[in-house]
Amino acid sequence: MKQLQIKVKDGSCPVFVGGNLLAHAGPALRRLGFHTPPVVVTNTRILRWHGKALLSSLEHSFGQVNVIRIGDGERFKTQATLTRIYDGLFRARADRHSWILAFGGGIVGDIAGFAAATFMRGIPYAGVPTTLLSQVDSSVGGKVAINVRHGKNLIGAFHHPSAVLSDVKVLRTLPSRELAAGLYEVIKCGAIRSAALLNYIEKKRDAVMAGDPSALEHVVVEAIRIKADVVAADEREKRERMILNFGHTLGHALETVTRYERFRHGEAVAWGMIAAAELSSAMGMLPKEEALRLVALIRCIEKLPSLRGISAASLWRALQHDKKARDGRLRIVLLRRLGKAQIVDHVDPELLRRFVGRFVEHSS
Ligand SMILES: NC(=O)c1ccc[n+]([C@@H]2O[C@H](COP(=O)([O-])OP(=O)(O)OC[C@H]3O[C@@H](n4cnc5c(N)ncnc54)[C@H](O)[C@@H]3O)[C@@H](O)[C@H]2O)c1
Repeated sequence: MKQLQIKVKDGSCPVFVGGNLLAHAGPALRRLGFHTPPVVVTNTRILRWHGKALLSSLEHSFGQVNVIRIGDGERFKTQATLTRIYDGLFRARADRHSWILAFGGGIVGDIAGFAAATFMRGIPYAGVPTTLLSQVDSSVGGKVAINVRHGKNLIGAFHHPSAVLSDVKVLRTLPSRELAAGLYEVIKCGAIRSAALLNYIEKKRDAVMAGDPSALEHVVVEAIRIKADVVAADEREKRERMILNFGHTLGHALETVTRYERFRHGEAVAWGMIAAAELSSAMGMLPKEEALRLVALIRCIEKLPSLRGISAASLWRALQHDKKARDGRLRIVLLRRLGKAQIVDHVDPELLRRFVGRFVEHSS
């Protein structure tokens, strides 16, 4: 097991990564200063797979624990579900000294974290993330949110968890498509900050995808380190955090034009990274063989959903819309080397438009 201490605004958050953490969650959380039983927010699927291990450990340490179940899927990250969580908290007689334990993937983490940020003007919460994506991404950084009909994650807050327990053994029950979607975010961390992490994934791809605990522990710890490092640097230098958006410009546009139905977020980012690597090389920033290496690594994880039927024009419109939504500049994160990202502020729009056209045509 590894322990990381993530710096957050008013202190730090301990993150534990290892196998069998669920079975020891009760004593671990007690040692971290929690003394009353948590209110657990989760969903039925996660409870079915892993509920027994976690709940028996919690009940052993804290006595009876209340559980609030929410629906499974992005369409439940809503105000209606939030109301259901508040109702459950009131029924459990929660008050401002209570705390929430978010037990699930990024959806549970985001909405349970937002409930914690707002219930009684804010109560603490701890995370037990159960997808690779939530272990490496959403459980670090303190962003919590719900979706509204105007768009995803538009109502939210910054509320850091008080502790995170990432048990890599729970990832064994994750469908391989979900595991791959998380692994693309790990690859992103390697691409922007650590060639060593990319080397490791190249060597250990099969072990990671087979759920090998020590390989998973390594990639989760390294990805968290990189994300936490970039987020901490951002407190001093505002631009730095943008490098976490590597692959996200085209990724978001792909999600938009397919109405979030075709790609998992990580898969859209994977396509975005392929495009960004090729563009970096086409612009003479990144040696061609390094771009090819990154593309080959992304492609060997799982088969990505195809780009078939996506028109270059609609993708270009979505990119333009994204640009307007920000500050009117077409800003894009590219690579100088594997492990070294650079934010490029003024990409020639005509060059980019032609590149997108060729990319969609040749990558379908
Ligand atoms: N807050 C942030 O910084 C941040 C960052 C990235 C993504 N997100 C958010 O995260 C969400 C996506 O998260 P996700 O990819 O974890 O999806 P998810 O939470 O929907 O989980 C994916 C599926 O796997 C199931 N599942 C979870 N753990 C399992 C396990 N161990 N075994 C078997 N099945 C399991 C879930 O029930 C679900 O059906 C999005 O809403 C996104 O906006 C937030």
